[in-house]
Amino acid sequence: MRKGVVFLPLLQGEEELIRKSVDKALRKHEATRENLIPILLQVQEALGYLPGLAMEQIAAALKMPAVEVYGLATFYNQFRLHPPGKHQVKVCMGTACYMVGGRIALECFERRLGIKEGETTPDREFSLERVACVGCCTMAPVVVVDEHVEGKVTPTRVDGILLSFGKAIASGAEAAGKKGEGAS
Ligand code: FES
Repeated sequence: MRKGVVFLPLLQGEEELIRKSVDKALRKHEATRENLIPILLQVQEALGYLPGLAMEQIAAALKMPAVEVYGLATFYNQFRLHPPGKHQVKVCMGTACYMVGGRIALECFERRLGIKEGETTPDREFSLERVACVGCCTMAPVVVVDEHVEGKVTPTRVDGILLSFGKAIASGAEAAGKKGEGAS
């Protein structure tokens, strides 16, 4: 179960989009507890993720505590609680990659971006996730950035990948500080 999810602030106009997506899902599915998962899935499909506001609105419509909806969404990995970043970084954690430094690559991205796996940077430029084998084991450790496969990813290569997107490389402490600023 994922804990302590911090939702990113909504973008301009996003609130309206969320309301429309929730309304649409509730027109398709009767507002009953049995339909909670189909409703959540439809909203996630429309928005690319499940914002906290959407879960609150769904909970109100189903006359159930928001914390219950939140609990269910955080329990199942099929639900994504952070918006997809403009650039999606997927670090392979399949056995071959894990054995030769996949974990190190993931931690390096986490430090550089100032987020944990499953999260999105406050500017929504990058999202970071771990994935299972992507079928390029001979290139391990592998990272897929958007649709591009990067092989033999060392910490230096992590910096190179981020720099290629114009991402200034900060130390972990600086990145964490910036994240804190963004959250306030
Ligand atoms: S285990 Fe990573 S590509 Fe196969």
